Amino acid sequence: MRTTPTIPAEDIARQLSICDEIHAILDRRPGQKKAFVDTYGCQQNEADSERLRGYMARMGYEFTDTEEGADLVLLNTCAIREHAEQRVFGNVGALTHTKRRHPDQLICVCGCMARQDHVADRLKRSFPHVDLVFGPQLLWQFPELLLRKLEKGKRVFATDDVPGAVAEGIPVVRQNDIKGWVSIMHGCNNFCTYCIVPYVRGRERSREPEDILAEVRELAEAGYKDITLLGQNVNSYGKDLGRGIDFAWLLEKVNEIPGDFLIRFMTSHPKDASERLFDAMAKCEKVAPCLHLPFQSGSSRVLQAMNRRYTREHYLELVHQLRARIPNVVLTSDVIVGFPGETQEEFEETMSLIEEVRYDALFTFIFSPRKGTPAEKLEDPMPKEQKSANFQKLLQRQNEISGEKHQEYVGKTYRCLVDGVGADGKLSARTAGGRLIHLEGSQDLIGTWQEAKITGSSTWALFGEIVG
Ligand code: SAH
Ligand code: SF4
Ligand code: F3S
Repeated sequence: MRTTPTIPAEDIARQLSICDEIHAILDRRPGQKKAFVDTYGCQQNEADSERLRGYMARMGYEFTDTEEGADLVLLNTCAIREHAEQRVFGNVGALTHTKRRHPDQLICVCGCMARQDHVADRLKRSFPHVDLVFGPQLLWQFPELLLRKLEKGKRVFATDDVPGAVAEGIPVVRQNDIKGWVSIMHGCNNFCTYCIVPYVRGRERSREPEDILAEVRELAEAGYKDITLLGQNVNSYGKDLGRGIDFAWLLEKVNEIPGDFLIRFMTSHPKDASERLFDAMAKCEKVAPCLHLPFQSGSSRVLQAMNRRYTREHYLELVHQLRARIPNVVLTSDVIVGFPGETQEEFEETMSLIEEVRYDALFTFIFSPRKGTPAEKLEDPMPKEQKSANFQKLLQRQNEISGEKHQEYVGKTYRCLVDGVGADGKLSARTAGGRLIHLEGSQDLIGTWQEAKITGSSTWALFGEIVG
């Protein structure tokens, strides 16, 4: 049975006509109107910002890369860890100065932080210069909310816990013309005990495959070379659509779209990763030979306390199955150090897991208690200093492994996509597996595939020269 709520097309059409109304209001004010969008957090937020920019462009805004002098400032925020939230509060606070110099400046805060009641309260009480606050589920209503602020002048807080839906037809202004994001689903049902995402992003809902495939086709036709399918757990794609389709099926369909592009996806939850997925990855020539498979902890006891619903053994079995099909697959992961109650022995199990798997790269986090999650209330006896020491130990060992894995590339030649230029003037490129290469060469090559011979390596990157 289909359970996915959808925003009717006429509701989006109404938002678009509100954009035109706002355009007319802005036209009556002197000067070109400029907007600054500041995005925090994950690719999901980047993809959301591209839609918010789409709306803004339709309202007649031009984009600027600084808050100074901007008529509209929008912060699309992340709530995943304390540090992310502190940065946002710091930056929101600093906007009092830009607004003093530019009193008409409109300041909007949206994204995952905005959906938390305690954050909305704090913005209301302590940041009177913030004009509009709305959570991720109300993104599609941004034009309507902004118009309310413009017409009535009063601050607007749209932060209620409304159920999420799928909204199609919102215009998009993308930030990059080589790499594109395509959200395939929104929300999360997993409730890992440390994680805020299900509370702020609502339940899982998948986009219809026709809409996803049309978006990918459009990107491919526009010459995009690297397309990432996004969802908090792409492996549960389609479950809510009642059409008997799954993520492996979607991958195969995306793979059939003509064009010289690579398909990536994130994130995969190990509890739903399967041989069926690995078979599809191996079979589809456009699917990049890499997988981001967060393990979070090497201890089955801690995994259970995290509500991850797999064991260390099952995770290792998945890695084995994947490598049997794609021997040189680039494997990356996320891990949390210092989950409440994690013992020193359990941390050592995380150390031994990274030794066993030998990831190409690892994103390491120290546990950060999130308000309203079950883990926030757990006893957490390990001293901070011990957690930091463990974190450093893990990081150091992983850096060695990453460096060793990078060394194996030296002397070999890889097809890579040139995607930009670094501060040092060197080109940056990515292998199909997603490893970064610094290359000498002309900027004209950006957006092209090249063969690169790897001449050197470090922990973080490869160095090479273009051949052939
Ligand atoms: N949906 C993705 C992850 C999204 S959040 C998945 O399930 O894999 C990205 C990473 O942030 C997580 O994998 C986890 O390692 C980390 N993370 C999430 N909540 C955290 C918290 N409260 N403290 C520390 N790290 C956290
Ligand atoms: Fe958070 Fe777990 Fe959902 Fe990932 S799967 S977003 S870690 S609750
Ligand atoms: Fe952050 Fe929300 Fe993404 S909490 S990591 S921006 S889903």
